[in-house]
Amino acid sequence: MQLRSGKSAADLKNTTNIKYTTMSKVTVVGAGNVGATCANVLVTNQIADEVVLLDIKEGVSEGKAMDIMQTANILGTNTRLVGVTNDYKMTEGSDMVVITSGIPRKPGMTREELIGVNAGIVKSVTDQILAHSPNAIILCVSNPMDTMTYLIHKVSGLPKNRIIGMGGALDSARFKYFLSLALGANATEVEGIVIGGHGDTTMIPLTRFAAYRGLPASSLLSEEQLQKVAADTMVGGATLTKLLGTSAWYAPGAAAAQVCAAVLHDQKKLISCSALLDGEYGEKDLCIGVPCILGKNGIEKIVEFDLNEKEKELFKASAEAVHKTNAALAQ
Ligand code: LAC
Repeated sequence: MQLRSGKSAADLKNTTNIKYTTMSKVTVVGAGNVGATCANVLVTNQIADEVVLLDIKEGVSEGKAMDIMQTANILGTNTRLVGVTNDYKMTEGSDMVVITSGIPRKPGMTREELIGVNAGIVKSVTDQILAHSPNAIILCVSNPMDTMTYLIHKVSGLPKNRIIGMGGALDSARFKYFLSLALGANATEVEGIVIGGHGDTTMIPLTRFAAYRGLPASSLLSEEQLQKVAADTMVGGATLTKLLGTSAWYAPGAAAAQVCAAVLHDQKKLISCSALLDGEYGEKDLCIGVPCILGKNGIEKIVEFDLNEKEKELFKASAEAVHKTNAALAQ
């Protein structure tokens, strides 16, 4: 066939073997619901140039990647996604790695009960990732998330800015969702942040700082309504686990992708994340949710909110609970 450009179809065929220069590469380890959703958001929102989705189960990541990439033309997205079965060579040179590996909780289980199985998996994934991407920033999603983030610090010895735990981003999203319902407001117009551990009893929705377009939520909702919003937020994950029969994935995957965007695009956004503390909020030697400025260096700053006595007490109790779960790592 002769094309109007004067080239033959055979010439055109030779030009389809395109060589790409990748500006940003993300690996997502674990092609379960959360990992695949994260990859999907990274692709559909064009957050990275290249995404590798890796899983140990033969064919699963390849299949999910193919399914997602078949939306590329429909949605007009240019991010490239490949799925691989346990081939860490393909993850080489990743700027960011999202670890979602491990088992999710079933109804009635706490996140803390997953520690035995997930600690071994997360350690092995961390070793393999760093062997191929020694400069990567790591985002931990696996549960119990604060303890897994701490474990990654212990096994990798990386500078603390390069390891981020995702929990607070998700918990804050749930907080804003419940706030928007209580206010009858658009979810994009409310502000709220959750700090503390990513556990049903350890997270701390900071109701005092919640706002609707700059108006304190406390001026629009009764104390009782605000406390209900906080309580619904704290059991937000458990409520979904009960409804779905397994842990949630849309908001967890999207929250992980939101953190990737903040880092890869050097957005300097303030997002609550699990960070290694060294005296901030009066705590050290643990990872727990605190407001972080995220940019190209990962956690660029931990912001210390001026907590009142009650909030300080809650944070202290939350830190104690996280320390207790961390102690199980040594067993
Ligand atoms: C949740 C899990 C991902 O909160 O921890 O849904």
